[in-house]
Amino acid sequence: MVGKIKGTGSYRPVQVWDNDKLSHMMETSDEWIRGRTGIGQRHIASQGETVAYMAARAAGEALRDAEVRPEEIDLILVSTMSSERIMPCAACEVQKLIGATGATCFDLNSACTGFLLALNTAQAYLGQHIYKRALVIGAEVLSNLTNWQDRSTCVLFGDGAGAVVLEAEEDAVYIQATHSIGKGGDALTCTSRNQPEFVEKGTNLSATYMQMDGKEVFKFAVSKVPEVIFEVLEKAGKTKEEIRFYMLHQANQRIVSSVAKHMKEPLEKYPMNIERLGNTSSASIPLLLDEWKKRGKLNPGDWIVLSGFGGGLTYGASLMRW
Ligand code: COA
Repeated sequence: MVGKIKGTGSYRPVQVWDNDKLSHMMETSDEWIRGRTGIGQRHIASQGETVAYMAARAAGEALRDAEVRPEEIDLILVSTMSSERIMPCAACEVQKLIGATGATCFDLNSACTGFLLALNTAQAYLGQHIYKRALVIGAEVLSNLTNWQDRSTCVLFGDGAGAVVLEAEEDAVYIQATHSIGKGGDALTCTSRNQPEFVEKGTNLSATYMQMDGKEVFKFAVSKVPEVIFEVLEKAGKTKEEIRFYMLHQANQRIVSSVAKHMKEPLEKYPMNIERLGNTSSASIPLLLDEWKKRGKLNPGDWIVLSGFGGGLTYGASLMRW
């Protein structure tokens, strides 16, 4: 027994910063950002739009979509690396905000692969009959971890949250493959901040921010993502042609295109929304799932592959029947 996704939800901060706005803040251009990444704009959280707030909004929507009451949730897992509060964990704050009084709550951090690993964790609990229903959420306010004076990183990221309700079902299918390469971790880092006060967006403090060796991360992603997708297909005894959609972490349009090319699969099977949202780290996969579900593109019985990759370095793929 494993879980099946019964409902999805999302939250996008109200404020939107397009590439032209960034080009007034630093030496960059819409042409450079779009050409290198496919990103046209990103949502940026304002004060009050915290990780927990956005996670709770996405969770509420997912519950309504699944027609599940908050009290019926046994487990809340929030994947995040950007929570404003270290304690209590964001999952406990979500519990309070949505009234899921019966849930066990904790956070999990594995950067951009975090949502996939949170989903795997929830599946393990459901598979062991420990819990029946879980809320799995990816939520990030990356704009607080972004060095707005480093144009090579700040143009890439955005804020947002996505959530799914997972319910144990006899005929559900979920197969996963995951890996970590700790020795490659220096390619993408963010040291914990010692300045907890709110950072006004667009300014810079001397605290620590996300740092990245873009080329190394790019090489890692385009080589390891196809590899782990083929691994999960083989485990499941499925061919690539049987897959309806490959939902990849939205880090860069060129990474997604390169994976499609490498796998010799049509690009139409790789949904993308990075143009509108940027890289939202562990929120990107549930945001994409929610968008595709709302657009009516996911049909019962479709085989879907999710794939996450990022800091750690970590990566993985999961195959499920919708
Ligand atoms: N606007 C304009 N110029 C910029 C810029 C910006 N926002 N950021 C960097 N540049 C400049 C650099 O200063 C450098 O200039 P120089 O050649 O004069 O020194 C040049 O652009 C670098 O360009 P290039 O080598 O072509 O960059 P790239 O093709 O490696 O693209 C990334 C950079 C970051 C877009 C790319 O490496 C990438 O997407 N990597 C993966 C990042 C990622 O997805 N991380 C998250 C994973 S979860």
